[in-house]
Amino acid sequence: MRGILKDANRRYYVENAPTMSDMDFDLLMKELESLEKEWPEFDTEDSPSHNVGSDLGTADGPNKEFEQFPHLYPMLSLGNTYDITEVEAFAQRASKGIGNSFTYSCELKFDGTAICLTYRDGKLFRALTRGDGTVGDDVTRNVLHISNIPQKLKVPPGFVPTTDKPYPWPSEFEIRGEIYMPWQAFERLNQEREADEETPFANPRNAASGSLKLLDSKEVANRGLECTLYHMLGENLPFTTHDQALCAAASWGLPVSDKRRICHNVQEIEEFINYWDTERKGLPFATDGIVLKVNEIPYQKELGYTAKFPRWAVAYKFKAEQALTQLLSIDYQVGRTGAVTPVANLEPVLLSGTIVKRASLHNEDQMRLLDVRIGDYVYVEKGGEIIPKITAVELSKRPSDTEIPRFPTVCPDCGTPLVRDQQEAKAFCPNQTGCPTQIQARLVHFLSRKAMNVIAGDATILQMYNLSLVRTPADFYSLDKSKLLSLEGWKEKSADRFLKSLRESLKVPFEKVLYALGIRYVGEATAKSVASHFGSMDAVAAATMEDLLSVEDVGDVIAESIYKFFRNPLNITMVQKLGEAGLQMSAQKSQGPLSDKLDGKTIVISGNFSISREDMKQLIASHGGKNSGSVSGKTAFLLAGEKPGPEKIKKAEALGVRIISEEEFMDLVGLQGPVRDTPGDQAEPREGEQLSLF
Ligand code: IVH
Repeated sequence: MRGILKDANRRYYVENAPTMSDMDFDLLMKELESLEKEWPEFDTEDSPSHNVGSDLGTADGPNKEFEQFPHLYPMLSLGNTYDITEVEAFAQRASKGIGNSFTYSCELKFDGTAICLTYRDGKLFRALTRGDGTVGDDVTRNVLHISNIPQKLKVPPGFVPTTDKPYPWPSEFEIRGEIYMPWQAFERLNQEREADEETPFANPRNAASGSLKLLDSKEVANRGLECTLYHMLGENLPFTTHDQALCAAASWGLPVSDKRRICHNVQEIEEFINYWDTERKGLPFATDGIVLKVNEIPYQKELGYTAKFPRWAVAYKFKAEQALTQLLSIDYQVGRTGAVTPVANLEPVLLSGTIVKRASLHNEDQMRLLDVRIGDYVYVEKGGEIIPKITAVELSKRPSDTEIPRFPTVCPDCGTPLVRDQQEAKAFCPNQTGCPTQIQARLVHFLSRKAMNVIAGDATILQMYNLSLVRTPADFYSLDKSKLLSLEGWKEKSADRFLKSLRESLKVPFEKVLYALGIRYVGEATAKSVASHFGSMDAVAAATMEDLLSVEDVGDVIAESIYKFFRNPLNITMVQKLGEAGLQMSAQKSQGPLSDKLDGKTIVISGNFSISREDMKQLIASHGGKNSGSVSGKTAFLLAGEKPGPEKIKKAEALGVRIISEEEFMDLVGLQGPVRDTPGDQAEPREGEQLSLF
């Protein structure tokens, strides 16, 4: 059980891809706790029951990019329950411990990822994740891109400064809260991920936590994260209640939820719980429960903490929302990469505010596991995916005439026998070049906004395909006006607009062209890394598996997919034709390399620079250098910006790889740097000083 829980913690907190529902996890944890209580001789210090799950590091590895700092006060979790009688028991315990009358602060439990902000002299000083509760990852640079977190506090109207108290806030305090992703931003992100054939996040919590640990801070700004703050800490804070502290924080411009209530007894708490159990369905963000806190700070101190939780607070968690409905039929949908997904058609049903008509059955294994039959009554839940999923069959309601579904053995569109990938549970249609659905989906992807950004609706592209005007993306560029006028409803104007948009797409940068090719697993971010690493389509096409694996964020699966794509003669021909049509086939087509100062040198970058990491990589490539994600014996040098990853530094030191600063690097390529400096701060070029690195 310890192993399962530790593994589930890692999948949840670090990889942001949970393997278990929250409720299953909480129940298993409770069982472990009661076993350890019953058999104390088998209890261990490192049991997950005594430690909060750690979020340190990223899915790529521990402590790769974030510096860590200790928490001034341990950052604990909350005891939780799904049972209202345990809320009553909590209130009784608190009441017994305190002995006097007291109040409760009842709040929403935001389903995000915990954050600890430190403000010094009214300015945001540092943002740490919970980490393992003792030390956290420093994500300040990312938090700066979350729009409702103020970098500077504001003085509330009516505040009168005195010499003793020039500002309303303490000179230093911590305020903790949750970074979360509202539903709208979450759905948009998952839509983009699905379009890129990247695994969607299972829920907004995972999306928020994955986004907070992005290595490219600018990308964080696009993720629509928000913050809510719910716990202030510091030395000698001038508040006697938690509510006062939150009201003060709100008056300084900090985001504090107004969905709180001061309750005086269990009845009021239950009213609050029941109210939000219904109303939460209409909120623009996810909540997974209610948090009850003893409001008076002296009483909080009296009750104190266990190793893992405060004794003055508890979470009541809501059960995941489900709806029961009938399964009418199953469609087998073929995607851009040939993957065949079973999708259930349901008797429409209301779930979390929307009418659900379709739900995913994922794959053949899942269908078998659920023992789902056409005509069955099934439970649907909203997970992370765009369409809800079927989680169980209500066997007690199974009609006598249900039909066992048969997963197709041939492609429902082109009839080609399906193949099953060894590693994946999915079935694929291997007829990439002949299966109409796959071809059409690839054409749509190629012209899409984030790829070549050509104005054309899906229906138009389908028409072009049906009239045999296009078969591969390269065919778009040989379309002329007469051919376009053969499309239904097309006149001079629409044809001109399309041709103009096509011409403009010739300026779309190389990384987008690479993305537009629709190589399996190569989403926008991967295309960007690969493009900046290799600099040209020819170099990507010629790359060996080893070359591909040295790109940051490229693992075996992606590397193999790219490698195979460029070993297919049809793809080579198509890419050649795109080149002939004038698309950007290299990062600096018009400029050519700026110099050969880094020719043949493999360079690893780490930390923050005065320019974005992507721009830094491009700068390296433009001087003939090669970027690599990991330090090895072949690394010419490690270019370390602000807050470089400690693991990379350690490895470079161990291998004797030289570590250079941004300034030294800029000198080396003949630029004054760092670029961020104001003119007065600019480092003087050091005359006669030539760095010798190699
Ligand atoms: S108070 C020491 N208040 O839920 C008490 N936590 O499952 C600190 N959470 O670790 C927590 N909403 O990350 C508190 N209104 C709220 C919350 C909240 C969400 C999170 C927090 C905590 C987790 C426990």
